Amino acid sequence: MAASTTRRRARFHDLTISQVRTLTEDAIEVSFTVPEELADDYSYAPGQYIALRATLEGEDVRRSYSICQAPVTGQLKVGIKRDLGGLFSTWAIENLKPGMQLSVMMPEGAFVSQSSETGAHSVAIAAGSGITPVIALIESALSADPRNRFSLVYSNRTAMETMFVDELADLKDRYPTRLALYHVLTRETRSSELLSGRLDEQKINEILQQLISPTDVNEWFICGPFDLVQMVRDTLAEHGVAADDIRFELFTTGRPEGLGGQSGRPVVVEAGQDVHTITFRLDGTSAIVMTPVHSNESILNAALRVRPDVPFACAGGVCGTCRATVVSGTVNMVENYALEPDELERGYVLTCQSIPTSEFVEINYDS
Ligand SMILES: Cc1cc2nc3c(=O)[nH]c(=O)nc-3n(C[C@H](O)[C@H](O)[C@H](O)COP(=O)(O)OP(=O)(O)OC[C@H]3O[C@@H](n4cnc5c(N)ncnc54)[C@H](O)[C@@H]3O)c2cc1C
Ligand code: FES
Repeated sequence: MAASTTRRRARFHDLTISQVRTLTEDAIEVSFTVPEELADDYSYAPGQYIALRATLEGEDVRRSYSICQAPVTGQLKVGIKRDLGGLFSTWAIENLKPGMQLSVMMPEGAFVSQSSETGAHSVAIAAGSGITPVIALIESALSADPRNRFSLVYSNRTAMETMFVDELADLKDRYPTRLALYHVLTRETRSSELLSGRLDEQKINEILQQLISPTDVNEWFICGPFDLVQMVRDTLAEHGVAADDIRFELFTTGRPEGLGGQSGRPVVVEAGQDVHTITFRLDGTSAIVMTPVHSNESILNAALRVRPDVPFACAGGVCGTCRATVVSGTVNMVENYALEPDELERGYVLTCQSIPTSEFVEINYDS
């Protein structure tokens, strides 16, 4: 079930919502119809995400949501969980209705299988809304080959808050011997002590000793909060799992104070100030923008001043939508949770996380 992660320049198109389904008290599933002429643009690999865009409180708000079903032509589905106090998720849950149109970015992301083995055993460790890309990965892996197996460790606070619980049960009915489901509840006691309480390092170690032997696994997928992802990666490494066999997706870095908070931040360039001059190429045309040296402004934020169509989604260094190559000059990339080592070698940076460090910087979004 190896999938291509070749990156294409993602663009937004208005898509019509065909269905909004309640998943839990705080989560919905939103389905979009993809018209035939956009079918290629919206084709995706299981595990990828789209970004949704809306103007809220006068702001251009973009948020990423993983596609929660194995590829189906003409349709996209995402699961949105309310983030308490969150701008987009709260608005989406309260306002999205069938028939509405929403600006939707073409699918992106590298949280996809890289295994081409048949009879592979994949394991996912997911928490909360981290299940969304995993559902697509499970469905695809199990339908791709009758010998493939999948094990899921899925942590939630309570059974009531668990997203896609019925869909997972249906998959278990369809593939009783090839799908192993381990629901871990942190605020409810299950009959098994191993599956009750916080999914911490001790519990992961116990699960690896008692339920899933790392030597019997071809590929690992981890999706959840930053701390969980880091802890599971470290624990798997201690069990001898190669980093190349682990894919992970972060929904947030949990750092609102980072550079990401500044997309859309007004920065004024005044005469006589020391500035960095950024030249950037996007869709075949070049633009120039200045940014004051003292402002520590990201290249993305500066570029948006002259071209509102510069691509970005999370603005937090996790999705990779804003990547571009540095053609000349130097930049300091503060965070990177999205670019692969080979992309770094080829000169890619995340422009939402990069600040110029030379007087002139040339960036190419078209590369
Ligand atoms: C690749 C990717 C895939 C994703 N897939 C999914 C998915 O499938 N399903 C899903 O539900 N989510 C997913 N997410 C997360 C999603 O994109 C949003 O981040 C999430 O819905 C929260 O957005 P929001 O606008 O509601 O919250 P925001 O307004 O962005 O706020 C986020 C949190 O920060 C807090 N906050 C806001 N401002 C401040 C401040 N100034 N100081 C301190 N705290 C603050 C809020 O209370 C909230 O808890 C994904 C993210 C990525 C990057
Ligand atoms: S916009 Fe997501 S990494 Fe920059």
